[in-house]
Amino acid sequence: MALIKTTPTTRSIDDVDLVSLSYVSELCHPFETLELMQLVDLAIARNGSLNITGVLSCESNRFSQIIEGPASAIELLWNSIKKDERHCNIFSLGIKKIKQRSFANWSMRLIDGKQMATFDPKLKSLIAK
Ligand SMILES: Cc1cc2nc3c(=O)[nH]c(=O)nc-3n(C[C@H](O)[C@H](O)[C@H](O)COP(=O)(O)O)c2cc1C
Repeated sequence: MALIKTTPTTRSIDDVDLVSLSYVSELCHPFETLELMQLVDLAIARNGSLNITGVLSCESNRFSQIIEGPASAIELLWNSIKKDERHCNIFSLGIKKIKQRSFANWSMRLIDGKQMATFDPKLKSLIAK
């Protein structure tokens, strides 16, 4: 019987093509705390199933968010987020390849604008506008 040789790899499937995407947007209407909590709860559930992690901030009529995960999953989620009518004037800071996650323990976590700016300084001026 022939032996099948396998090549050991140090990369797991989940690490392939990890990307991160950041954006800012404007709220179309003021969000009640409950509505925001519901959005985050749904995001946590769906992101968990897509292997996506990240952070969201909602301050001064603006959202800012960083999502990270496999490129195909990020593309899928980004298409949903872009067409969501609860926000508008969506401005993406682009997508970049990453070696490892910054928010590995958070499927989605609500943070304040100050914290968000420390995670991605490019978001700082856009959040403050
Ligand atoms: C500011 C903002 C951030 C959002 N973030 C997420 C998220 O991280 N994960 C998620 O599943 N949905 C998120 N959503 C909701 C999606 O836009 C969308 O409603 C949901 O994923 C369902 O997608 P579908 O309508 O394509 O089925 C967000 C919505 C808004 C307005």
